[in-house]
Amino acid sequence: MAPHTEQLTRPAVQLRGLTRSFEGRTVLDGIDLDLPAGQFTALLGHSGSGKSTLLRAVAGLDHKVAGSGQLSAPERVSVVFQDSRLLPWRRVLANVLLGLDGKDAERKGREALAEVGLKGRERAWPNELSGGEAQRAALARSLVREPELLLADEPFGALDALTRIRMHTLLRELWERHRPSVLLVTHDVDEAIVLADRVLVLDQGRVGLDLTIDRPHPRSYRDPLLGDYRERLLTALGVTEDHK
Ligand SMILES: Nc1ncnc2c1ncn2[C@@H]1O[C@H](COP(=O)(O)OP(=O)(O)OP(=O)(O)O)[C@@H](O)[C@H]1O
Ligand SMILES: [Mg+2]
Repeated sequence: MAPHTEQLTRPAVQLRGLTRSFEGRTVLDGIDLDLPAGQFTALLGHSGSGKSTLLRAVAGLDHKVAGSGQLSAPERVSVVFQDSRLLPWRRVLANVLLGLDGKDAERKGREALAEVGLKGRERAWPNELSGGEAQRAALARSLVREPELLLADEPFGALDALTRIRMHTLLRELWERHRPSVLLVTHDVDEAIVLADRVLVLDQGRVGLDLTIDRPHPRSYRDPLLGDYRERLLTALGVTEDHK
């Protein structure tokens, strides 16, 4: 692993000229992007704009982007999706520990479950969890791997509004404690501005807007000073007064 000082100065993720096409249609069109180590970034964009494609590329899950440009990302990367992807035939703790070994693994798994508020549910089956609890378990599974980079593709998209707000608080707290670089894909402008320190808008295969959200945490949806950021993001997404 890189020395601590280098980690602070070197971007965790560096993309240069990243391009991805499907059947002749260009979805990512020469993307240049640096994500500094430890930064919490959100990625917005219309449905079909290429957010998941970009996330998959950064996660190293898309072998076809190799050669289209340059991509460097940390070694320890965790990905969280909209559904928890827990294996139904394994109990919660076993899901969290999947693929891990070593004598410390179980202790770390239990600690991670406690951190996401699932202490006591280690032996539950995935189908005994609510949607929010399942996503907590998915977060614990990521956490236990001590990722340098956490990629999340609409992780709260299937949750009800109240659960979503609780998950926002939890994710931000986890980030503050562990400080991975985060790239959070979302459709929700408010989710982006409440959680992230930087918000990107993907448009026509490029980063159309790169906005730093300069407000202290914890942030409230009701903070009127977030209104300017909201307006700028909605405008970048092409949402005009007529659509509101
Ligand atoms: N494996 C694939 N084969 C063909 N086309 C694909 C493939 N993966 C993605 N695409 C196309 O690339 C475009 C971008 O898809 P992507 O899933 O990245 O969008 P998105 O921004 O994540 O959308 P959403 O917000 O709906 O999740 C879409 O038009 C999609 O149809
Ligand atoms: Mg997507």
